[in-house]
Amino acid sequence: MCGIMGYNGKQNAIPIVIKGLKSLEYRGYDSAGIAYLKDENVKIIKEKGRITELEKLLDDDSSNTAIGHTRWATHGSPNRINAHPHNVGDVIIVHNGIIENYSELKEKLISNGYTFKSETDTEVACAVIDSIYKETNDKIKTIEKLKDVLKGSYAFLILFKNDNKIYTTRCGSPLILASNIDGNYIASDIPAILPYTKEYYLLDEGEIGIVDFEKIEFIKNGNIIKKEKLTFNFSVSEAELVGYKHFMLKEINEQPHIIKEFLDYYFENFDLIKDISKYKKIHIVACGSAYHAGLIGKYLIEKYGHIETNVYIASEYRYSDNFITKDTLVILVSQSGETADTIASLRLAKECKAGTLGIVNVVGSTIARESDEVIYINAGCEIAVATTKAYTNQVLTFSLLAYKLGIKNGLISNEDALEIKKEYYNLPNEINKILKLDYKSLASKIYKQNDIFFIGRLIDYYLCLEGSLKLKEISYIHSETYAAGELKHGTISLIDEGTPVVSIVTDTSICEKTVSNINETKARGANVILVKRKSLVIDETCYDELIEITDMSDLVIPMLSIVPLQLLAYHVADLKGLDIDKPKNLAKSVTVE
Ligand code: AGP
Repeated sequence: MCGIMGYNGKQNAIPIVIKGLKSLEYRGYDSAGIAYLKDENVKIIKEKGRITELEKLLDDDSSNTAIGHTRWATHGSPNRINAHPHNVGDVIIVHNGIIENYSELKEKLISNGYTFKSETDTEVACAVIDSIYKETNDKIKTIEKLKDVLKGSYAFLILFKNDNKIYTTRCGSPLILASNIDGNYIASDIPAILPYTKEYYLLDEGEIGIVDFEKIEFIKNGNIIKKEKLTFNFSVSEAELVGYKHFMLKEINEQPHIIKEFLDYYFENFDLIKDISKYKKIHIVACGSAYHAGLIGKYLIEKYGHIETNVYIASEYRYSDNFITKDTLVILVSQSGETADTIASLRLAKECKAGTLGIVNVVGSTIARESDEVIYINAGCEIAVATTKAYTNQVLTFSLLAYKLGIKNGLISNEDALEIKKEYYNLPNEINKILKLDYKSLASKIYKQNDIFFIGRLIDYYLCLEGSLKLKEISYIHSETYAAGELKHGTISLIDEGTPVVSIVTDTSICEKTVSNINETKARGANVILVKRKSLVIDETCYDELIEITDMSDLVIPMLSIVPLQLLAYHVADLKGLDIDKPKNLAKSVTVE
């Protein structure tokens, strides 16, 4: 999603804004731009492509007030004209989000004499602000009116000609504001602010921030309000590579540490949902990898918690009748806490009077703040678009919930509970062993392939879904995951001589069945990469490459089994020389529908 950065203060704003935009590159973008005050005017410079292309157009100008933007195209192709900032009349804006009623607004503005240069909804929003401002001649009133005129999502930074303040407001898309001795900062995400301060404010829906040279003022319903100052629990180094080639590899390697920290923080006081038993069913709602984590959550909660649990893709859930009642606990899983479809599902659940729990990484994010309860997965700042450590801690959260429920239900004996606790605390050590193995040579055998299949059953199937997504999103190799028993109902027609098939077999209850399905692919020439628990005896004719996983309870082994697939995806993409942390077309947090 788009990156937003603004600065107003004593220093030269231009390099600060450019640096901030660079720290947000991981969010994904295809054009960039900056606007800054210069001798009573506003200069706007923007360009297609990376920020380095924009920098070529910047001379050594200086200014104390600037706003900048990296655009992930939603309306109109990635080019200089569609890039932000946009200017109409006396108004200049950058925008993150989608204005859904921009077409009807554009028609009305054109009939009132406005003309447009770009294909974007943002330029229309800019014209709306300009037209209201011409009526009211009052900037605060103008901005307050936006929530009645614009439909959709937005985070705006707004400059008005002949005014050296930056105005900001949001509906759906997040904004962070912060101050230090040098001035005042606004950004769409934490890494842009971290180099300057660890204290920040979160703008709430409909609030207005006025950022001038010396201070930040907050306005709500026309009145100045005081806001709570929050503190990042991330360090600057977390937003830096510190010697790794890519953030993704760094974050894969951080997993042992963040798992240990999670266990130290939660294991003894995991009174997660005080009275989960009051709910008759659980809905887990998420997108992407968070959805895959939810599938594992379903399997474990149903097995150990004996509570009917269903998992939904958020973009489907928000538009379907899911029989959400006050007896339903809706669990929203989201690393960013800002995914538009997941937020919408949360709000739907609350309208239906369901209980809501957020399992979230980013402190103070929208899902965290609007859920009845929240569990922070404490995975630290995750920069790589392809999630790894956050996914693993999402799974760990569900695992610990199921473990606690299993003990409460008497399905896990005190003796077994102690054994499983040892496995949890041994998990960092076991992951470190996997991190030391060589995955480059295995990756070299498949990185030129066009199609790769993943098969597994039950929890192994859910892990395959995540392994396949990791591979797809960073290596651009087409990859599909199938429930192993389903392959023969069609897709097996695609298995030919040499087709790579990755299979995970850790679930002892259905091992033989999965092996039969593996053999069906082998019989058609597949090259099988098998990830299995050590204790399972599987004939070596069933596979071509073997990755063995230390035996652990099914509550713990998922956090181990996924690591080889994360590393395999990483090394395949690295061998292809791709931009692993910023994959094409992707964004770290999808704050639009
Ligand atoms: C995973 O590698 C992707 N980056 C993506 O699927 C992500 O998990 C999904 O967009 C959900 O994001 P969230 O966890 O921030 O809601």
